[in-house]
Amino acid sequence: MHTQVGTDVEHAARLLEQGELVAIPTETVYGLAANALNAVACARIFEVKNRPGFDPLIVHLAPATDFESALSACARAVPPWASKLAGAFWPGPLTLVLPRKPLIPDIVTSGLETVALRMPAHVLAQRLLERLPFPLAAPSANPFGFVSPTTAQHVLDQLGGKIAYVLDGGPCRVGLESTIVGEQDGRPVVLRLGGLGVEDLEGVVGPLGLATSSGASPGSLESHYAPRTPLYFDDLGYRARGLSPDQVALLLFRAPLAEVPPDQQEVLSASGDLNEAARHLFGAMRRLDALAAARGLRAIFTQKFPERGLGRAINDRLRRASSRYAT
Ligand code: TXA
Ligand code: MG
Repeated sequence: MHTQVGTDVEHAARLLEQGELVAIPTETVYGLAANALNAVACARIFEVKNRPGFDPLIVHLAPATDFESALSACARAVPPWASKLAGAFWPGPLTLVLPRKPLIPDIVTSGLETVALRMPAHVLAQRLLERLPFPLAAPSANPFGFVSPTTAQHVLDQLGGKIAYVLDGGPCRVGLESTIVGEQDGRPVVLRLGGLGVEDLEGVVGPLGLATSSGASPGSLESHYAPRTPLYFDDLGYRARGLSPDQVALLLFRAPLAEVPPDQQEVLSASGDLNEAARHLFGAMRRLDALAAARGLRAIFTQKFPERGLGRAINDRLRRASSRYAT
């Protein structure tokens, strides 16, 4: 299959209506979309991504101002915390996990009694969703376990030849997957750190727990978001591992290290802005991974970012990408 890249929303809509897969831009990362009400189309997402069937998909909703009715189309019940969060942050990088209605196929929720719902903020995604009579199921548009794509080219690099069309919406503004909130013991909890800071959520619904990673949900699997090159998180001690400066790549927050060649380093935000760092994270991981393969570099060493705002999600992704957990 030849994969086309373009900005033709109408073409994307027609393919989706025919049960095809289309990669779509969102403000967080690119998604691999199918008609969420078409179980056969959704099954192809799992095939193309090589994704295990126990990892449920996020359902993307058309922009609306009446969040209650938008949610109620797919969810059996909408608790007050969910209405408040949708009201404050939708459209945006926030996914809500709620009891599902039967119209959502089992394959989308991996048989769970809940469904993950999100209203994306990207204008092309919105136009596409408004044009379609159904919501879109879309995981990140990368092979399972790898780094999520934040440009159309990233999608093409990994899924080219396997899907019909990539709707090109430019580089993603947020750069990290959505923050996921669900309910445990009657209280909202963060199921996955992501593109919306926990402090922002807590400003609306009060203190939020963080679900401990169970491994049952792969966004929370220990090894995930991984480049091919071994990566060390919160560890710049390459010399202690017997490596010299020309054998390593570095992923840093604000400033490069003098002794390592400049083009073997990625500095995510010289001004110390965690939102900018998040936006550049996955692209930087990809570039260093490719450079390591081309030059025979042995490993990527990374710093720990400040544990606030998007820094928490950046650390979460780097920790899971680290070779300490690789299988
Ligand atoms: O920003 C995002 O969330 C992107 C864009 C494309 O919207 N999507 C994304 O999807 O990151 P994905 O499939 O890579 O991650 C979705 C994660 C799953 O791995 C799972 O952890 C969680 O969402 N999830 C989905 N449905 C769930 C459910 N019913 N209960 C608990 N977790 C769920
Ligand atoms: Mg993913």
